[in-house]
Amino acid sequence: MIRTTRTTVAEALGGGGKDGKGNGVGEEVTIKGWVRTKRGNKNVAFIALNDGSTINNIQIVADATAFPEELLARITTGACIRATGTLVDSQGAGQSVEVQAREIDIYGEADPADYPLQKKGHSLEFLREIAYLRPRTNTFGAVLRVRHAMAYAIHKYFNDNGFYYLHTPLITASDAEGAGAMFQVTTLDVSAPPRTEEGKVDYSQDFFGKHTSLTVSGQLEGELGALALGQIYTFGPTFRAENSNTPRHLAEFWMIEPEVAFYELEDDMNLAEDFLKYLIRYALENCADDLAFLEKMYDEELTARLRGIVENDFVRLDYTEGIEILKASGQKFEFPVAWGLDLQSEHERYLVEKHFKKPVILVNYPASIKAFYMKQNEDGKTVQAMDVLFPRIGEIIGGSVREESYAKLKAKIDAEGMDEKELWWYMDTRRWGSAPHAGFGLGFERLILFVTGMANIRDVIPFPRTPKNAEF
Ligand code: 4AD
Ligand code: MG
Repeated sequence: MIRTTRTTVAEALGGGGKDGKGNGVGEEVTIKGWVRTKRGNKNVAFIALNDGSTINNIQIVADATAFPEELLARITTGACIRATGTLVDSQGAGQSVEVQAREIDIYGEADPADYPLQKKGHSLEFLREIAYLRPRTNTFGAVLRVRHAMAYAIHKYFNDNGFYYLHTPLITASDAEGAGAMFQVTTLDVSAPPRTEEGKVDYSQDFFGKHTSLTVSGQLEGELGALALGQIYTFGPTFRAENSNTPRHLAEFWMIEPEVAFYELEDDMNLAEDFLKYLIRYALENCADDLAFLEKMYDEELTARLRGIVENDFVRLDYTEGIEILKASGQKFEFPVAWGLDLQSEHERYLVEKHFKKPVILVNYPASIKAFYMKQNEDGKTVQAMDVLFPRIGEIIGGSVREESYAKLKAKIDAEGMDEKELWWYMDTRRWGSAPHAGFGLGFERLILFVTGMANIRDVIPFPRTPKNAEF
């Protein structure tokens, strides 16, 4: 137990106390936090204080005759204070205990005339414009605590199952996915870069002596780890410079990418399903207060939907069958449905929400719409890809078995017009001790969207990066 000079609100309300024996009722506590509201009359002030340790506030009761009027007047919504006093059983409804204040200090005032969170009930759009303050709202406190719990659960899951956490680079000279435009990384003077004789930018003079970018995925390096350590996962930021302004895309998002030697497609699906169920069960068991708040405020079906994931087997379906179902659905879609076309989120959601009413793992996609590294099927047309499709989200996981045959991979790279020389190290793994292996990528923010019931991906990451938006 860390010994500090304060008791958190969670500790005080939990009644457990920081020393494990309980800063129980009757004991003195010092609480520090930000004022949510203050109400009262000329005899008494009731201050609702929150310190981020829980969605719940603790009530500080200040006898107005015992404190200077001037001090109580400066305690307004948003101000940061310290209150020391006795923890007592609460007389009022809505809380079990409260603090009968003996001393109050003000660390920082928040002038009601210009404090942006003075009033409750701001729109999420407005809060995005003050993203530097929004963690102080109930909504973002809840979302960020759930986000933390999910990050912890991810590491715990992999550690408990014998996976190693591999740190893959963020700066890369290769384009792993062809997944979209990349952000260039350079120290060259972009207004006057050095030029080669043919007039091209001379990247040999750049910091790394070559053209480099921010990575779109840690997978290719993850594969190198899996082909040595057996079972690895990455968990880090990834970057995509697509100009897609949707509620499910960020330019900077976090991805979890397990990669496992000797896995077949079925193993990969089993891992994905077990992993997602574990994470959602973890949230239900460990984030109850925050989920109850989010359910009440934003999404009345939240916990029912989360339970639906834990309690149902995921449907496993061939892409080709999925296309047949969509064609036969009689549904009007905005985007066309035909074998060989990629699915849009409206198609994915139809399969999950309307047709099966369960999560779906779609497998064996056409090779032409998937990445070069996916294992080719005997039919010569499809690859061993798997996407996990979720209600409200569409694709939450994308993965595959990897092509382990040097000859097949080389033929594919040539056919796609890619430069084998840039991937020489990747190709080498298929020359020496090549092994079947598979993995997938889970979009962390898509998981948090699903678990919190929030509707926009900008509201589940502290500082969203989207086109034209990188202020704070
Ligand atoms: O399907 P993707 O592009 O797959 C890969 O990057 C593979 N290298 C993964 C692997 O096999 N190791 O991305 C994986 C997941 C998607 O299913 C989605 O959840 C999320 O990453 N994702 C995004 N999330 C937020 N914003 C974006 N722009 C995203 N693009 C993908
Ligand atoms: Mg994908």
